[in-house]
Amino acid sequence: MIIPENKIEEIRSTANIVDIIAERVQLRKRGKNYLGLCPFHTEKTPSFTVSEEKQIYHCFGCHAGGNVFKFLMEYEKISFVEAVQQLANQLGITLEFEEQTGIEKQSEQEILYEINTQVARYFSDNLLNSLDGEIARDYFNSRKIKTQTMRSFGLGYAIPSRDHLVNFLRDKKIDLDKALQLGLIGMSNDNRLYDKFSGRIIFPIFSPNGRVVAFAGRILDDKEGYAKYLNSPESIIYSKGRILYGLSHAKDEIRRLDKAILVEGYMDLISLFQNGIKNVVAVSGTALTEEQVQLLSRYTKNVVLLFDADTAGIKASMRSIELLLRRDIEIKIVSLPSGEDPDSFVNNFGREKFEELIKQAQNFLEFQTAYFESQGMFEDPAKAAEAIRELVKPAALISDEIKRNLLIKAIAKRFNLREKLLETELDKIISKTEKQVKSDLSLNEMKLSAYSREQIVPDDSIKRTTNPLLYNLEKELIKLLFEGDESVVELISHHITHDEFIIDVHSELAQLVYESHKDEKEIVAGSLLERIEDEKLRSYVLEITFERYSIPKRLDDKTAEEKRKILYQYALDTVKNFKLVKLDLEIADNHKKIEGAESEEERSELMKLNRDLSNEKKMITEELSKDLV
Ligand code: CTP
Ligand code: MN
Repeated sequence: MIIPENKIEEIRSTANIVDIIAERVQLRKRGKNYLGLCPFHTEKTPSFTVSEEKQIYHCFGCHAGGNVFKFLMEYEKISFVEAVQQLANQLGITLEFEEQTGIEKQSEQEILYEINTQVARYFSDNLLNSLDGEIARDYFNSRKIKTQTMRSFGLGYAIPSRDHLVNFLRDKKIDLDKALQLGLIGMSNDNRLYDKFSGRIIFPIFSPNGRVVAFAGRILDDKEGYAKYLNSPESIIYSKGRILYGLSHAKDEIRRLDKAILVEGYMDLISLFQNGIKNVVAVSGTALTEEQVQLLSRYTKNVVLLFDADTAGIKASMRSIELLLRRDIEIKIVSLPSGEDPDSFVNNFGREKFEELIKQAQNFLEFQTAYFESQGMFEDPAKAAEAIRELVKPAALISDEIKRNLLIKAIAKRFNLREKLLETELDKIISKTEKQVKSDLSLNEMKLSAYSREQIVPDDSIKRTTNPLLYNLEKELIKLLFEGDESVVELISHHITHDEFIIDVHSELAQLVYESHKDEKEIVAGSLLERIEDEKLRSYVLEITFERYSIPKRLDDKTAEEKRKILYQYALDTVKNFKLVKLDLEIADNHKKIEGAESEEERSELMKLNRDLSNEKKMITEELSKDLV
């Protein structure tokens, strides 16, 4: 069923997000926004914000957010189409549907999801209902997995055969090329199709919204020479580093408890879940990635790492710590008794013992110290100094000053050192990264410092680009573009083309707003959001649109007219500064080149270029220096 875009827009613009949310969440007016207790995670002080102007909501605690449809989807746990329907009903808008005319109207992704769904059902049916499935049922029984758990995680079994699945796919008239693409089947040298997961028990892997994006298959008996797990290859619906196994099952509980337990394996997660511990996600084998951390940080800022006690597990924890700290996530670490993994632990000792273990989790300072101790680093003074420096390093990643100071105090106390000494060490690390940024003040080699305190960074391109000043100016411009003010959009688009933005995501967002404006579509954030496909980009927009501007004046208590003027003036200044900074960078870049110029000719060429650039600066300053307020 497809609802036409203009119908969706009509419904969205008829609904007032404040009314719809206020029916479900108690809201109080606070400045220009509304504030309440977030329905998506537990909190005592309200950080759930709704903007009437922008028609979006955002929680600063758990990073939930979106437009009115997103709210209904998340709150009522319904699909997008259902949310649109429900709202249409409520508003008395009739929906006439364009019937879907056959499969070719489905997007490529939809087709792949559909195939995975059918295949997941097939695997599950093999496990639960087929005669051949007995051996797999026995296996799960021996691992204490209940039938109910098998159902809720969609566990399955691939019947050991060369082409049982191939035949199923043929029967169902499923596109075999696509099944190949999804890695469900393979093609042998003699051009025959065969089942990839044959003889394995199956764990479907779900997207955060609960769609099957991939499969993992485990062999039944741990034989040498066979990979224990076989995983689907990456595809347009599956990117390994962006999925956390179990998140779709665990997300509500993670929000409710405002805490997530991170484990390694599929079985770990499933066993914990079956034992009532439901705020768990699994990284499944690979090292934790930045994308996974970002994904998780939308649901909570408190993470317990629960990795196997082997050295590989400890190493993985160490790497993960850094990624988590960068997002200001509070980390606790649990070491399991040797020889146990979470699955075996909870099955051997039960839920209560497990919860005790979680309660005794160490903070990462204790954990890291213990690790260095076990490596004998404190026995040798030179090594001890290095160890302490290593302990201070993570502190530089924490942007919250109070937290950072507490950590420094803790290290000082633990090693009986003067705090001053550690602070000097910390300053050294921080200024090193900042200096690096300054020296990179060239357009070509701009980098955002590792010590950046930006929150959600949607794309790797950001890290490659930009000095912090330019980055902030761009961000302010994007924020302004999402104000929903036509004259501001006109001003910015008149002076800055979308490809003048250095950062890809900013360029993409500017283009979206410019085009929407040109096509006379709504430019309210709530509508624009609907046109952004990429989820990361959406959450980036949400993060920044609720940030305060770096304007000294407070906007909240101004009349609409005053506010428009101030915003316009601010947009004008920001456009000007953006242009000037870019020119300055170019000039500085040329200066460097002048110093290293090979010939007099080249030198004078560059100097002329810089004179032109300086003139351009003057012109821009004159053109954009009208004071309006
Ligand atoms: N893994 C993988 N491929 C492998 C081995 C492991 O993808 N060849 C991933 C799986 O996600 C697995 C996790 O790493 O769940 C942890 O591996 P391991 O501890 O070896 O397996 P368990 O999950 O403990 O599985 P089991 O308890 O069934 O042995
Ligand atoms: Mn295990």
